[in-house]
Amino acid sequence: MKEFVPVCEPFLNGNELTYITDAVSTGWISSSGKYVSAFEEEFAKYCGVKYAVAVCNGTVAIHLALAALGIGKGDEVIIPSFTMIATAYAVCYVGAVPVFVDADKNTWNIDVTKIEEKITPRTKAIIPVHIFGNPCNMDAIEELARKHHLYIVEDAAEAHGAEYNGRKVGSFSSIGCFSFFANKNLTTGEGGMVVTDDEHLYEQCRYFKNMCFPVNGPRNYKHDDIGFNYRMSNLHAAIGLAQVEKANEYREMRIHNAQIYQRELSGIPGIVFQKDEAKSKNVHWMNTIVLDPGKYGRTKEELIAHLKENGVDTRLLFVSMARQKALQDYGCDCSDKYPVTDWLTENGFYLPSASNLSEGIIKEICRLIKEFSSK
Ligand SMILES: Cc1ncc(COP(=O)(O)O)c(C=O)c1O
Repeated sequence: MKEFVPVCEPFLNGNELTYITDAVSTGWISSSGKYVSAFEEEFAKYCGVKYAVAVCNGTVAIHLALAALGIGKGDEVIIPSFTMIATAYAVCYVGAVPVFVDADKNTWNIDVTKIEEKITPRTKAIIPVHIFGNPCNMDAIEELARKHHLYIVEDAAEAHGAEYNGRKVGSFSSIGCFSFFANKNLTTGEGGMVVTDDEHLYEQCRYFKNMCFPVNGPRNYKHDDIGFNYRMSNLHAAIGLAQVEKANEYREMRIHNAQIYQRELSGIPGIVFQKDEAKSKNVHWMNTIVLDPGKYGRTKEELIAHLKENGVDTRLLFVSMARQKALQDYGCDCSDKYPVTDWLTENGFYLPSASNLSEGIIKEICRLIKEFSSK
């Protein structure tokens, strides 16, 4: 490789600089300012929902959602064991207990056939995570939620613009949550968003996000509840607005890149890709491969080292929630087995996935993998 290829870089080729310059030159750099509301409006439209509330990252978006729903101490919330730890942390922040469900071997999302056995009288919500941009089986999750009177809070941190049954993710739940971290398909550097169709939840999110100042009342510094400062700055929102203007373009670039990887590597025995749910449009946040130890002749570590020697960056996958000391100490039941999650962690890794990777670079990465795999 002529130049080092990082695992993911942001792609900022729209109005980012124009909007940021405007925000700076007019002095609107804090959380008031036209870009915050414009970004919220455009993102809500993009997701096909009525309301969006911008926050400072994806982790607090999930916390805010759970707080707005009144989930707290004594409650249980079902989450996948294969996720980024932010999903579990957010449940802990409200004092509730995360309960884990293993991943599906094909889609790597929460295994919907294993959710029901984890539901107890204390269960209040399910957080499906659309892993790597692949929408979960929302038909099954909605049916379970209806049957057991549970809230759905979608963790769509990795899945901007992904669709299930023709509907955008984030719009299936009481509240959908997004991250705009620098490696995401849409970014603000650091940032997050909650989206909802429910006016009351929208007002609750705005209330808690801003220190529990009354949303439309007087600013008299009297507070009835414990709130958070989760505001997004106008500077971040300026980037976000420019990004959402390009959302479809970036989404298609990500999908196109995944198609090249899959086409080039699909013939290699033992290289496994994530499979889409039947009704899903996967937006391929990260191109991930799993090496089936029985079929792929070399180890993951050997392939990662070979790529590194040739200037290609990779990243390991999430470690099971059940194996996190923090969550064991918190009191989560980690006694069950999560074999698919462990299989993913042990054998999988991310390949470079930035939206603007050229076809030539992806083919060169694939050539390096093919060459190594055939030795
Ligand atoms: C599934 C998932 N949930 C939540 C988050 C948290 O988002 P943030 O890093 O913006 O706090 C991430 C971040 O990558 C994520 O992958």
